[in-house]
Amino acid sequence: MTAGAPAAVICGIGGYVPPGVVTNQDLTSRLDTTDEWIRSRTGIAARHVIAPGTATSDLAVEAGGLALVSAGGEPPDAVVLATTTPDRPCPATAPDVAARLGLDGAAAFDVAAVCSGFLYGLATASGLIASGTARRVLLIGADAFTTIVDPADRGTAVIFADGAGAVVLRSGDATEPGAVGPLVLGSDGRLSDLIEVPAGGSRQRSSGRPPAPGEEYFRMRGRETYRHAVERMSAASRTALASAGWEIGDVDRFAAHQANGRILTAVAEELGVPAERSLSNIERVGNTGAASIPLLLAQCTADGSLSGGHRLLMTAFGGGLAWGAAALVWPDVKAA
Ligand code: UT7
Repeated sequence: MTAGAPAAVICGIGGYVPPGVVTNQDLTSRLDTTDEWIRSRTGIAARHVIAPGTATSDLAVEAGGLALVSAGGEPPDAVVLATTTPDRPCPATAPDVAARLGLDGAAAFDVAAVCSGFLYGLATASGLIASGTARRVLLIGADAFTTIVDPADRGTAVIFADGAGAVVLRSGDATEPGAVGPLVLGSDGRLSDLIEVPAGGSRQRSSGRPPAPGEEYFRMRGRETYRHAVERMSAASRTALASAGWEIGDVDRFAAHQANGRILTAVAEELGVPAERSLSNIERVGNTGAASIPLLLAQCTADGSLSGGHRLLMTAFGGGLAWGAAALVWPDVKAA
């Protein structure tokens, strides 16, 4: 961060999941899988899914509205939406979300970094505030992942789900609780085909051939992705810790992207984070992509497992490949 520049300080939070719930038992009726396999391999028991006709913006408006209530004060002058599943390929979804939240004239755009979108969005929001372009930013992570997952693919349909989480960041001082501290981001596009939706973009469209069957669905090479997820989240976390001047024992709460329960355990063990300091909601909400971290923070703020003064380490990993980590002292905010 530029010396003397204002810091971005989290001052509000909200989370939202759609009311529809799909349990593992529900999935066993249409997929060749079992409750035991899903629980033991992923840690997921149930997930929330949108109703037909619902879109990412609907989830984002709910979570964003709650974060605005939680923050109170002035309306944001910028809206950043991290998402893998925009309502349409064009335009961005954020302007629609801003308009529906009554934020007329606010800068609004999407960030596409798949499951790392919230941390990329946090860096973006911090930059907007540090540069003076915005004084207050609504940052939302929202994904309607079930709209791109192949319902017949047991490797992904059991994992991915829908939801949204949001924070409000205001201009403030780097020493305040809630000030965004060291942020580490990285990518490796050589491995972009580990997690992809092959069709629907310029590559397929310019070829003049229609999508082959299944190409418009999300694909993930799970086993390889798993290995990279553990490596990258552990390494990024260590770098963020070093930049913050923290030892691992200083971390009160660890919030990793809720990719898979076994990945969360592996990363926490690799880093030496005690299990009781590791936050998790994957059992109830599955993997909600860009929504994963802010939804987790919102739910943990609401239930008291994350509170003001906790030194928080966050890390994420996903398609791109793209990853990140961030360290900050959690502010005294209430989830609306
Ligand atoms: O959020 C973005 C980042 N995403 C991640 O980090 C996710 C990373 N990967 C994973 O979470 C795990 O790799 C999965 C949960 C996707 C899969 O678990 P795994 O232990 O790596 O299983 P696998 O893909 O190696 O498959 C093992 C077996 C295969 O059968 P065979 O070939 O050994 O006969 C799969 O076909 O498990 C089979 N399988 C299933 N069986 C029952 C895959 N999905 C299922 C299922 N139910 N739902």
